[in-house]
Amino acid sequence: MLKGKKIVLGITGSIAAYKACLLIRCLIKRGAEVQVVITPAGKEFITPVTLSALTQKPVVSEFFSQKDGSWHSHVDLGLWADAMLIAPCTASTLGKMAHGIADNMLITTYLSMKAPVFVAPAMDLDMYAHASTQDNIKLLQSRGVTIIEPGTGFLASTLEGKGRMQEPEQIANELENWFAQRDGDLKNQRVMITAGPTFEKIDPVRFIGNHSSGKMGLALAQACIRRGARVELILGPTSLDITPSPLLHVTNVESAQEMYDAATRLFPDSTAAIMCAAVADFTPADVAEEKIKREGNQMILHLNPTRDIAAAVGKMKRNEQKLCGFALETHNALEHAKEKLSRKNLDMIVLNSLQDKGAGFRVDTNKVTLITASSTTPLPLMSKQEVAENIIAKLFA
Ligand code: CTP
Repeated sequence: MLKGKKIVLGITGSIAAYKACLLIRCLIKRGAEVQVVITPAGKEFITPVTLSALTQKPVVSEFFSQKDGSWHSHVDLGLWADAMLIAPCTASTLGKMAHGIADNMLITTYLSMKAPVFVAPAMDLDMYAHASTQDNIKLLQSRGVTIIEPGTGFLASTLEGKGRMQEPEQIANELENWFAQRDGDLKNQRVMITAGPTFEKIDPVRFIGNHSSGKMGLALAQACIRRGARVELILGPTSLDITPSPLLHVTNVESAQEMYDAATRLFPDSTAAIMCAAVADFTPADVAEEKIKREGNQMILHLNPTRDIAAAVGKMKRNEQKLCGFALETHNALEHAKEKLSRKNLDMIVLNSLQDKGAGFRVDTNKVTLITASSTTPLPLMSKQEVAENIIAKLFA
C-alpha cells in the first residue's frame, strides 16, 4: 500500500507519457496522493487537463501560474513530497538532472527535493545504451537516485524492448517496496520458509536428490528480512552463501522427513509460511547400512511416498496464519496449480514456468504467476529478488 504517501510525479516528453495516466491510477488506487509536474515537452504528449482530472490537483509546469501570476514553489513541493518519481524520464531530463541544468520546473523541483527520487527511463535502445546516458545514470545512482530499469518487462527478450519504460504496475511495486522496507512494515511477522532440495539416502554415499538450488527460498527470506520480518528458514542441502542476520534463523535439514519434522514444529509459532522447497515425493524404503556393491545386471530400488509438508501445514493452519506454496507444472498448469491451492489449503500458490527461457532451477531469474482463490496475476520475467518482493507484497497485501 502507498496509503497517505505524497508523490510528486514528473512527466517528460516521451511517447510513454500516455502511460503516466495508468501510473497515476495505479498510485492513487494504492492510496497515494499525486502531484504532477510536467516539462514543456511533456505537454506535447499529454494534456494537463487529463492529468489534473486524474490527480484532482492542478498540474504544475511553469514557474508562474499563467492565470494570476502566482509563484509555484518548487521548494514547497520538495518539502511536501514523500517521494519524487519521474516517469517517463527522457535522456535529456536524465542529463539535466545529472548536471543541474535547471531550465524547467521539473528540474528545479528535483534540485529542491528532500524526499527519495525514483526515475523510470524511457527512450529507444541506442539512446539508453549510449555512454552519455549510462554515465548520467551512474552519476544519479551515486547520489542515491533509484533507477527503475526499463525493458525488464514483457519485451525483455527482444531488442526493441530495452529502453522501454517499465510497466506502471511494476513501477508502483518498486515504490511500495521501498516504503515497506524503510518502514519495516512486517516487523510483527514471523515467516517460516522451506527451501532447497531434499536428499533421500540410498546408502551411506548415495542419495536421491534434485536440482533445486534454494536461491528462490533465500531471496524470499531476504525480502521478508528487508521488511523487518523474522524468518525461520528450513533449508535442504545447498551450497548457498547465507549472510547472517539477527532476524534470520536457519534450520539445516537433509531428508523430506527431517524437513517435515522441522516445519510442523515451527509452524504453530509462525504468522505465515512459504513452502518453497523441492521436496522429494518418494524415499527409499530401506537405507542400506553399507555401501551397496555393484552386483547383477540391474538394481531395483523400492521407494515409499514421503509426507506432503505443505498439506500437513495446511491442515494445522489457523485463520490468521497465511500459507503460500509453489507449483511446478508442465501441462494444464493453471488448472493443476488451482487444484493444489485448494487441496493443500493454501492462501496463495506461485506457479513456476519451466517453458520460459530464464525461468526455473539454477538461474537468477524467474517467471511466475501468482494465484489466489480470487486472482491470477502473471508476472513478467524478472530477477528472483524481484519475484520474491512481488510474492511477499501479494501475500501480505
Ligand atoms: N510440497 C511439500 N512436501 C512434499 C511435496 C510438495 O511441502 N512432500 C510442497 C512444495 O514445497 C510446493 C507444493 O507442495 O510448495 C507443490 O509441490 P509440487 O511438487 O508441485 O506438488 P506435489 O504435491 O508433489 O504434486 P505433483 O508432484 O503430483 O505435481
